[in-house]
Amino acid sequence: MTPEQQISALREQLQQHAYRYYVLDDPTVTDAEYDRLYRDLEALEQQHPELISEDSPTQRVGAKPSGGFAEVVHEVPMLSLSNQFSPEDVAAFYRRAQDGLETRDELTVTAEPKLDGLAVSILYEKGVLVRAATRGDGATGEDITANVRTIQSVPLKLLGSGWPERLEVRGEVYMPRAGFEALNEHARATGQKVFVNPRNAAAGSLRQLDPQITASRPLTFCCYGTGVVSDDLPDSYFETLNLINSWGLKISSEIAQVTGVEACNDYIARLGAKRDSLPFDIDGVVLKLDSREAQEQLGFRARDPRWATAYKYPAQEEITQLRDVDFQVGRTGAVTPVARLEPVFVGGVTVSNATLHNMDEIARLDARIGDWVVIRRAGDVIPQVVKVVTDRRDGSELPVHAPEQCPVCGADVERVELVKRGKGVEQRQQGSIYRCVGRLGCSAQLKQALIHFVSRKAMDIDGLGDKAVEQLVDRELIKSPADLFKLTVEQVLSLEGYAELSAQNLIDAIAGAKSISLARFVYAMGIPEVGEETARTLANSLGTLDRIRRAQVRTLLRLPDIGLEVAHEITHFMSDVHNQNVLDQLLELGIELEESDSISAKLQASVSLADLLEGANISAVAATGAKNLASHFVTLDEFLSADGAQLSMVPKLSSRAIEAVLQVLQDAEWVAEQKAFEAQLIDFGMHWTSEKHSNGAEDPLEGQTWVLTGTLESMGRSDAKNRLQALGAKVAGSVSANTDVVVAGPGAGSKLAKAEQLGIRVLDEAQFLQFLNEQE
Ligand code: IVH
Repeated sequence: MTPEQQISALREQLQQHAYRYYVLDDPTVTDAEYDRLYRDLEALEQQHPELISEDSPTQRVGAKPSGGFAEVVHEVPMLSLSNQFSPEDVAAFYRRAQDGLETRDELTVTAEPKLDGLAVSILYEKGVLVRAATRGDGATGEDITANVRTIQSVPLKLLGSGWPERLEVRGEVYMPRAGFEALNEHARATGQKVFVNPRNAAAGSLRQLDPQITASRPLTFCCYGTGVVSDDLPDSYFETLNLINSWGLKISSEIAQVTGVEACNDYIARLGAKRDSLPFDIDGVVLKLDSREAQEQLGFRARDPRWATAYKYPAQEEITQLRDVDFQVGRTGAVTPVARLEPVFVGGVTVSNATLHNMDEIARLDARIGDWVVIRRAGDVIPQVVKVVTDRRDGSELPVHAPEQCPVCGADVERVELVKRGKGVEQRQQGSIYRCVGRLGCSAQLKQALIHFVSRKAMDIDGLGDKAVEQLVDRELIKSPADLFKLTVEQVLSLEGYAELSAQNLIDAIAGAKSISLARFVYAMGIPEVGEETARTLANSLGTLDRIRRAQVRTLLRLPDIGLEVAHEITHFMSDVHNQNVLDQLLELGIELEESDSISAKLQASVSLADLLEGANISAVAATGAKNLASHFVTLDEFLSADGAQLSMVPKLSSRAIEAVLQVLQDAEWVAEQKAFEAQLIDFGMHWTSEKHSNGAEDPLEGQTWVLTGTLESMGRSDAKNRLQALGAKVAGSVSANTDVVVAGPGAGSKLAKAEQLGIRVLDEAQFLQFLNEQE
């Protein structure tokens, strides 16, 4: 194949895969395979820049256009729609259409979601995307071609064949809810602007002057119509859309053809019931007479067609007054603000509480008690306060203060700076949360801890609902999860909702839960950030609760999928005296854990000095430096007692790095930490291996002087000498201050004594053999 043919084949494959992924939602290759093809194409295009064309998948993100957006005059105006708010309204619309067509026959209507985004026109000439524009005022819009090209569900070149020479498609650019939530979460964490809703986020993204930014936003395009078209399309709108879909554009997956007014209202009710669970925001249903001929016959009123209309669902955003801000205490003691609102009907339900996330969010919104606020309730998420209407302030609004005492138990509330731990020691400030220090002494935390403790995936204690937990705590029958195991039938009977049998069943269930797998028990403890999966990893890797309790951060970091953040949460939890007491109590009360004494094979795999040095984060010594350094010492102790002279013999170690190493070696705390880590590794059954000289240096013993003394039983002295020389060492006959290592077999005499006197490293035959083995 010529490069040209190769390039064109790759483009075709990539287009097909993108179509299956972004338009049909039904990919046939993995992301990795797609990426590989993409890189192949990029590489070929780099070799043959003359073959790059605008419609290549590699050319989605272009340069920043200079100046603003140019004007685009729509050849066919972009219209809006009339609105309906009830089934009766829909019936009246339908009746008017029948009147206009002078028929009593049932009409065929295409119904589809009214997507909450922005209307966009995209023009294809000879199948190639040439221009995209906003709706603007309907007559004139803005040229946003560079930005629309970055939307993956928009083909740069139409698929298949048979498309009109000029084809203008119209549709909505929108941001799916998941992408919107992720974008805002990232914005909150990095102190950037937060968008009020997906529609604003989509609009803001399309209005970017830099297409690179647009490309980073999760936008989608869904087609719902046409503008100028040079050839005839089918009479049916529904068929036309399906044809357009076959050319590579996305159409709504909810689209349906219905006949008669009842079917229209049924569709509206059905989609309304699904509204919250859709992956994108909709604000209604669009009904269109399916036949183009009928559409032409009916024509337009001032700005909207007589053949189409929009049924509007209840708004997802409403304005109401912020009455008060209460604080709730969660399982981990986090104190979070909750907005108490003047009840308001939003997204189909009456809302009187909304989340305010945290104090940082209150500051960002500048929300004050008495403010008029915008509430958003969309999908399954809890209603949120997204905006303050500052124009409506009259000066009587009061600021919100974080409580100094826990509203539940009265203990102090502390402010905790949130740090994001990345790889290594790098930390990023993430704002702050407020936390009640009352731990299980705080009834709110105790209740939540118990509810989690008995839940199905944790201890799985049947017959103890939230209400019963609340009573147990409120009546002080239980002060810690361990007290569950001391409950009597009589105590349970004193709670509301229990009879003889159910009380006895509960007591039996609690007794039955005493014998439990380690993974479930670890999950039940409710360590922040430790879900079922992580609990399983801990149990499977470390085998016993005792090891999990004692594991150091660096040991935890060796486990699959446990990062710094989680490792810190675990050690923090385990070092807490309250938690230790609860665990001890539970064990004393006879909790039997199914433990295994062995630790996972992965953990058992040997650990080297290089690993340890790498994890020790010595400034000026990176991963390769750590390996290099480790290749010069056999044991940790040897490394810890290294001096400047020894370090200066390590090739490629900069003086800055030597300086840094010497400095940490003098830090008693650091040295103790390394020793403790080594001790834990050995205690947990891991092997220690030396990396000495395994870093591929050709003559690892270059510059070293060795002395052989005594008899070597496994090999002659001359053999040993040859092997040392092969490794680059000089083999001398007598011991002096210049000697690096003495190998002493049985019968060694004065040379050994001298070596010991001078503090020179001495290897016995076994150590020497091991050393030689490691050089292989
Ligand atoms: S058809 C002549 N179909 O609603 C018909 N519009 O109020 C023109 N919209 O500007 C529009 N989903 O931004 C149509 N499935 C859909 C739609 C839809 C959302 C928006 C569009 C338009 C506005 C009209």
